[in-house]
Amino acid sequence: MSCPQLILHLPYSPPFNCYQLFFYLSWLQNACHKGSYGYQKLKEREPRACIRFKCALTNTILDILRRRPGWVEVKEEGEWDFYWCDVCWLRENFDHTYMDEHVRICHFRNHYELTRKNYIVKNLKRFRKQIEREAGKLEATKCDFFPKTFEMPSEYHLFVEEFRKNPGITWIMKPVARSQGKGIFLFRKLKDVIDWRKVKQITCFILQDGVRTDDQKDETQVENYVAQCYIENPYLIGGRKFDLRVYVLVMSYIPLKAWLYRDGFARFSNTRFTLSSIDDHYVHLTNVAVQKTAPDYDPEKGCKWMIQRFRQYLTAKHGAEVVETLFAEMDNIFIKSLQSVQKVIISDKHCFELYGYDILIDQELKPWLLEVNASPSLTASSQEDYELKCRLLKDTLHIVDMEGRLTGKEKRIGGFDLMWNDGPVSRAEGNVDTPVNGSFMANTHLGYNNDRKKQLKQLFKSLPTQQKVQC
Ligand SMILES: Nc1ncnc2c1ncn2[C@@H]1O[C@H](COP(=O)(O)OP(=O)(O)O)[C@@H](O)[C@H]1O
Ligand SMILES: [Mg+2]
Repeated sequence: MSCPQLILHLPYSPPFNCYQLFFYLSWLQNACHKGSYGYQKLKEREPRACIRFKCALTNTILDILRRRPGWVEVKEEGEWDFYWCDVCWLRENFDHTYMDEHVRICHFRNHYELTRKNYIVKNLKRFRKQIEREAGKLEATKCDFFPKTFEMPSEYHLFVEEFRKNPGITWIMKPVARSQGKGIFLFRKLKDVIDWRKVKQITCFILQDGVRTDDQKDETQVENYVAQCYIENPYLIGGRKFDLRVYVLVMSYIPLKAWLYRDGFARFSNTRFTLSSIDDHYVHLTNVAVQKTAPDYDPEKGCKWMIQRFRQYLTAKHGAEVVETLFAEMDNIFIKSLQSVQKVIISDKHCFELYGYDILIDQELKPWLLEVNASPSLTASSQEDYELKCRLLKDTLHIVDMEGRLTGKEKRIGGFDLMWNDGPVSRAEGNVDTPVNGSFMANTHLGYNNDRKKQLKQLFKSLPTQQKVQC
């Protein structure tokens, strides 16, 4: 093993922080120990005739990968160039898998810094303090888009203090690492949390005292919760609560390079909103997984609105300027949340990630970030939903660019607009640029017309390497 080769194969780009160094050393140790990596020369990204892919999911993404010209599926233990893996695979294998220069996978190693409900709070709080120190109080208020949140049980006493300051308001308890509304409950009385704590302590005691299976061990370790201030005044349409699902693709953290998708949707609850029945999940949780079990759920109608329809509705009601402000505030949420983890996420060049943001809008038209998902559902709930996910995934693969067709200077690729490229990206014509003072317009088009086919045709026609393109 010679040093120059090792430097070429660093899994993370310098500069390191302590965290990255730790992961690098454990990666190195594992790789050497297992002997699982070779010593190929550093290759430039070059067009590849055939891309070998693996896929851990059996939904839309598998359809898209199978239909992509020049891509072949690899099953079981075969070598692969691209892996749409799940986070379990990542946890168990990433640290001792050597990846060639061109190889790509769909998660960052420690994505949970952004996507676990307790870690995102910790990172946002730290980032807010940093902004306050460096740029002042006013600037720091731009981070105030996350409802007040405490980790439980570790911040129980802080939570109780806060709870007593505002008696009567509603709180929501959410397990930090579950999804689809599982394990969530709302409460107004401290007694409910005390009961929850007791049950948890008893469960831990029984499990610790008896013989624990591995699953039980995991459960006692991961079942932390967050207690979060419940947004009691959600914006309602037709009397119903909804939240937005928006897609953000991150190609690199250092430098931060992030794309925003034009499509997304609003997910409505099936039952009219009221604060008088806080135990009714059909009223308060807008997850499709929850709503589709409602007795009066109509699968034909579904419970979604495309984000274009939502934007038009708001514009008709409140005017374009108000809507522009709301969407600009959402852009701020995407960027600030990514910046809050920029220094802790291991920015490995083999990794990219397609995040699903959950945003709730209140009656003052203020957007709140509820959570960021590392594995947003790619299962379709209707034909319209299937088509949206197909567009989203095709365009994601265009940007990942295993085929090596892009120049790297593109500001738009299909339905994705480059939102951040080590700094804000302007909407002005031309390639990646720096903002011009005064007339800066962000290059984001959430809820705009997604004329992606036309754009892709023009884009690929203009590129030097001509290959068969499926739009
Ligand atoms: N702080 C909150 N205020 C109001 N509604 C919330 C809040 N947090 C969550 N919800 C509702 O609960 C749903 C599930 O919460 P979320 O944090 O997205 O967890 P999950 O991982 O289970 O989807 C959201 O889609 C939203 O409808
Ligand atoms: Mg959610």
